[in-house]
Amino acid sequence: MCGIAGYIGNRNAPEILFDMLRRLEYRGYDSAGIAYLSKGKVVISKGKGRVDEVRRNSKNGDSSIGIAHTRWATHGGPSHENSHPHTDCNFRFTIVHNGIIENYKDLKQELVSEGHRFSSETDTEVIPHLIEKFYSGNFEKAFVESVKKLRGSFAVAAIDPEEPEKILVARKESPLIIGIGKNENFIASDTPAILPETKKIIILDDFDYGIIGKDDVVIKDLQTGDRIKREIQTIDWDIKQAEKEGYEHFMLKEIYEEPDAVKNALKGSNEIREIAKRISKYQKVYFVACGTASYAGMVGKYILERFGISSEAVVASEFRYSTVNAIDNNSVIIAVSQSGETADTIASVKEAKKRGAHIISVVNVVGSSLTRISDGNIYTYSGPEIAVASTKAYIGQLVSVTLIALFIALERGKITGDYVNEILHDLNGIPEKIGHILKNENEIRKIAEKLFKKDIFFYIGRRLNYPTVLEGALKIKEISYVHAEAYPAGEMKHGPLALLEEGVPVIAILPNDDLAEKMESNIQEAKARNATVILVSETGDLKVPPVDPLLSPILYIVPLHLLAYHISVLRGIDPDKPRNLAKSVTVE
Ligand code: G6P
Repeated sequence: MCGIAGYIGNRNAPEILFDMLRRLEYRGYDSAGIAYLSKGKVVISKGKGRVDEVRRNSKNGDSSIGIAHTRWATHGGPSHENSHPHTDCNFRFTIVHNGIIENYKDLKQELVSEGHRFSSETDTEVIPHLIEKFYSGNFEKAFVESVKKLRGSFAVAAIDPEEPEKILVARKESPLIIGIGKNENFIASDTPAILPETKKIIILDDFDYGIIGKDDVVIKDLQTGDRIKREIQTIDWDIKQAEKEGYEHFMLKEIYEEPDAVKNALKGSNEIREIAKRISKYQKVYFVACGTASYAGMVGKYILERFGISSEAVVASEFRYSTVNAIDNNSVIIAVSQSGETADTIASVKEAKKRGAHIISVVNVVGSSLTRISDGNIYTYSGPEIAVASTKAYIGQLVSVTLIALFIALERGKITGDYVNEILHDLNGIPEKIGHILKNENEIRKIAEKLFKKDIFFYIGRRLNYPTVLEGALKIKEISYVHAEAYPAGEMKHGPLALLEEGVPVIAILPNDDLAEKMESNIQEAKARNATVILVSETGDLKVPPVDPLLSPILYIVPLHLLAYHISVLRGIDPDKPRNLAKSVTVE
C-alpha cells in the first residue's frame, strides 16, 4: 500500500533510492518515482509502471539527498501525473506520501481558491501546496503546520532545495522507520528497504516528526514541538532473507522457507505459555484478522472448540463494525497479522480496547503498529515476507495460534500436560514433513500443468481444514486470477454441487481423521458429477505425510501453496506482484 524511501549522505542518492524502491515494491507497483536535489533545484523522475521501468527512463543524476515512492493507487488511477513525488506550484517543496488524506477535498478547494495550481488527482498533492502556503522562511515550521492540517493517515517525507541538508518526515497511522548509517541516514516504510544498508533503526510513533540530516536525526512531537527520544533498535533479519537467492520468485523461495517458519514460530513457545496464563481467565476469545491471517485465526477457533472452549474468528472489516458491540472486559482479542499494519485489524483492536478487551497480537514484523497497541505480542519470527500473497507467514501464524489455543486449554484444565507435550513433540517433526512435500514439487507442477487452463476451481475440506481450503482458494484467486470457491465439504449439496460438471477441478482435503469417511462421501458426490477430483491425502494425488489431525492444517496447505504458485506461473502471471493487490493494506 505505497512505500516511501529517503536517503541523505555522501553517496549517490538516485541509485540508492531506486535500489530501496525495488525492495519496497511489494507495497505497490503501479507507478514509482524519485526526487533529488541537484544544483539548488529539484529533479524528479517518475511515471507509471514498475520501478525498473521508471529507473530505465530516468535521467542519471548526482545528488546526496532524495526521496522516493512506489505507488498502489487510491485517489486517481496510475499515471505520470498521479505518481509521486509531488511538488507545489513552484516545483520547490517536494514530497512523497503513504496513507490517505481524508480531508483533502476541503483542503484542495481552499488552496485552489487561493490560486494554487494542482496537476494530479491525488489526495497527496495538497501537502506540498500547504507547505508553500505556510512557508515564511522556515521549512520545518511550514511542514509542521501543514501536517497538522491533515486528517487521515500519513507517512510523509519532504525536501526543499533551499535547505538541502535535511529531509523532514512525519507519521500518523502509516509505518515509517529511519535507518541509521555512518555519515548517512535512510527513511523507509519498512525494514527490507534498508536491510543491505544498516540494521540500526528508529521506529517513529504516531504524531512524531523528524528532521533527518546526514549525521543526525532529531525527533519531535508534532503537537508540542518538544524533542523526544526514540530508542535505536537493531533488526535481526538477514539481508539474504530479503533477496531471491536464485529462486525464480519470492513466493517460491518463501514456500521453501515454510519448514523454517515452523521452527521460528516454535521459538515463541515459552512467551506464549506465559501469555496463555494471563488470558485464560477471559471467557470470550475472538480471533481477528484479514486475508490469509484470518484463516489462521479460524484454525485457532477450531482448536479451542475441539477442547471445549468457545471462540469466534471474525474478519476485521466486519468485526470493527459489528462483533465489536459484543466486546467487554471479559473478552480477549487475538489479532493475527503478518505486517502488523493492516488498517482494519488495527481499527478493530482499537475499538475492542475502548470496550475494555485485553489484546494479544500474533505478528511477524517486530515494532509494527499493532504490536504497540497490544497488551501482549506473540512473534512468529518468520523473517521478511516479500511476495504479496502470504505463505510462510501463514505457516508461522498457524503454529502460534495452535500453541496459544493449546496453552489456553491447558490453563483451563481441558487437556493434560502430557497431551501438550505430545503435540509439541509432533510440532517439532513438522519441518521435516514439510520438507517431504516440497520434494514432490515436480509432481505438484505436473498437476498444475493439467489444471492451469481451467477457469473455475472448487476446494473442499472439513473442520480444521475448512480454513485450509479457504486459504488454498484465496491463493489461486490472488495470483492466478481464476474463480475459486472454498466450501465446507458437507455444504456442497446445498447449492454448489449445481456448478459441478465434467472436468471441473475439486481439490479435496482428506486427512486421516474421524471425519475421513464423511469426506469420502463428499468426494464421491463430486466424482458422480464427473468433476476432476484432486485428492490431498496421505496417498492421494497431492501427498502429505501422516500427521496428528490437530496439526494437519500446517501440512495440508503446503501442496496448495505450491499448486497455486505453479498455476500462476503457467498462466504467465508474476505471482509476486498480482494485479490490484498490495501486501500491506493500510487503508480501510
Ligand atoms: C493483504 C495481503 C495478504 C494478507 C492480508 C493481511 O491482503 O495481500 O497476503 O494476508 O493483507 O495482511 P496482514 O499483514 O495483516 O497479515
